[in-house]
Amino acid sequence: MVRPGPPLSGVVRVSGAAKNSGCKQLAAALLAPGVTVIRNAPPVSDLDVMMDVLRALGAAVERTGDEEVTVDASGPLEGEAPYELVTRMRASINVLGPLLARCRRARVAMPGGDNIGSRKLDMHFRGLEAMGADLSVVHGFIEARCDRLYGARVVLDFPSVGATENLLTAAVLAKGTTVIENAAREPEITDLAAFVNRMGGQVIGAGTSTIEIDGVEELLAVDTELMGDRIEAGTLLMACGIAGGEIELQGVRLEHLEMVVMKLGEMGMRVSPTPDGIWALATKRLQSVDIATLPYPGFATDFMPMAVALLSVADGTAIVTENVFDARFGFVDELNRMGADIRTEGRHAVVRGVPRLSGAPVRASDVRAGAALVLAGLAADGETTVLDRRHVDRGYVDFTGKLRALGADVTSAEGE
Ligand code: EPU
Repeated sequence: MVRPGPPLSGVVRVSGAAKNSGCKQLAAALLAPGVTVIRNAPPVSDLDVMMDVLRALGAAVERTGDEEVTVDASGPLEGEAPYELVTRMRASINVLGPLLARCRRARVAMPGGDNIGSRKLDMHFRGLEAMGADLSVVHGFIEARCDRLYGARVVLDFPSVGATENLLTAAVLAKGTTVIENAAREPEITDLAAFVNRMGGQVIGAGTSTIEIDGVEELLAVDTELMGDRIEAGTLLMACGIAGGEIELQGVRLEHLEMVVMKLGEMGMRVSPTPDGIWALATKRLQSVDIATLPYPGFATDFMPMAVALLSVADGTAIVTENVFDARFGFVDELNRMGADIRTEGRHAVVRGVPRLSGAPVRASDVRAGAALVLAGLAADGETTVLDRRHVDRGYVDFTGKLRALGADVTSAEGE
């Protein structure tokens, strides 16, 4: 429940990237027969789902602190990733690479499409096949096996985050050298590669378009600490943009958000780095700018819904182009219920800024759509109720609490 309030003000510590980094490192922990401790891993529901996936596969997984998860992958990994978990969280597919590498077989339910697009897996499959795996989809399950994985040169059609992660974590125990060309360059991939290297892996080039992995015979379980969540940080910066105010975020690196910061600067905000994070100031109504989403270091698709919320009350007209997912504008109808003036056509949205939105009950359709609707509520007269807030809880830790710490009038009822 969101009501407009005074400009935001205050300091917030950004949580660890539990969803987009933590789930991947949890899956990678399967590579090492031993005990891995993952720190700065706060509870978000997607991480809970990944913990259940690992348990279903035979690992012992416990939350050992508010911000810590411990995985014991010593035992045999003989289970399967069941449909009821994979359908709740697509990143479950990230266990495919580590399982094939370590156990030479994997059975993972095939995920379907979701609320942001069709989300194919062809690049995951082609890459693993090039490394010697045999994959088929039988009765809704991906069944994969190999005698051994072998190094291969894989050129991705598109820098897919998930495919890069699956191939990297498969190649680390393969025989010989794997080269992934047109690899995704997201900071979460660099974080994953650093973790794998600390386990004894030989990965070079993560963070660039060419990643080279020299396979090793075995890996050792080590501790890891997740990076600050750049998507949460960007969301809070945009909250400041829409509500106005001056905020400081701690525990996040501005260079992970360069394109967002550049766009917010063009819109009229001031954003600069601090020793441990980011400072931001918004004193007036923002100006519209055009935005096109692209893989990192481009403007991330995960920021797009929040950016559209911001543009819906900015001065001017903006064209927003979504280049990564094929159906990510579902939330626009909800913003229009609040009085926004947005028209979509295929991959494009034309956002004509209006001075003010009008609070209404609206429904979240995915994690970022939910965050965008909360932000819209900050610039809406009256009360905005965001239904299906469970979507927001998939990726944000205490989102409403953090906004309240900045002075926003946002409350939430448990379990809604
Ligand atoms: N794609 C294919 N074939 C493939 C793989 C991907 O066609 O084999 C297509 C997808 O259909 C999509 C595009 O490539 O159109 C990009 O997909 P990508 O594989 O990069 O995305 P992902 O790994 O499934 C992760 C994040 C998303 C984020 C994207 C892009 C996690 C758990 N998810 O998904 O996060 O939007 O990368 O950066 O890390 C979110 O946090 O809200 C979210 C959706």
